[in-house]
Amino acid sequence: MVNDTTKLVVEYAAKCKERFPKEYLIGIEMGVAYGETTRALAKEWTGQGIIAACDTFEGHPEYLAPEGSPEQICMRQHYDEKGKDTLSLEWQQQEADESGLTNIIFKKGLISELDLPYAAYHFAFLDMDIVASMQDGWSYISNKLKPASFLLFHDCFQGSRLENLINWFNTNVRNDPRFKIIQEDEHTGLIVMERI
Ligand SMILES: C[S@@+](CC[C@H](N)C(=O)[O-])C[C@H]1O[C@@H](n2cnc3c(N)ncnc32)[C@H](O)[C@@H]1O
Repeated sequence: MVNDTTKLVVEYAAKCKERFPKEYLIGIEMGVAYGETTRALAKEWTGQGIIAACDTFEGHPEYLAPEGSPEQICMRQHYDEKGKDTLSLEWQQQEADESGLTNIIFKKGLISELDLPYAAYHFAFLDMDIVASMQDGWSYISNKLKPASFLLFHDCFQGSRLENLINWFNTNVRNDPRFKIIQEDEHTGLIVMERI
């Protein structure tokens, strides 16, 4: 069962199909963890687009977060509950194969080293908890989004437990003139932007 955050992310992916009816869609999720959102996005875009799924697939790179910060330890609770086996690229590929999802391209490694062949994207979801990671993701994607595309951020909403992310977003992203904010959802913690 998918959670409310995934549902809202997928709603915007669905809107992309209406906005770009004649184009093969290119989307990216930065920060995949157990892959529920990735698979829901790929299912939504079956036959109509591809999702680049980017993560270490080995667990949260805690060393990128400030020592003692909430974002350094925020994934530990999930690892305690669910273990780390199903984070692996092998498991995620197998799960995608068994679900008949052929439109996911998995990219393993740090976002700072991301290497993908796409020049322009219709959709991006940044969900990496750590400021340095989000900044790397933002640097990668902000110039590659097509007009009318959607860019979603998690945990940057006012009230997020990850205060450093709120400050980073407000300082570096919120007022970027290339984008406008179209939704800030308190319940899921998602901020949705549209490329102007
Ligand atoms: C909150 S989880 C992602 C949850 C996922 N989007 C979902 O909807 O279920 C954060 C993920 O970001 C990944 N991550 C954080 N910093 C990263 C970086 N610099 N490069 C690659 N992956 C990173 C972690 O490995 C972790 O799996």
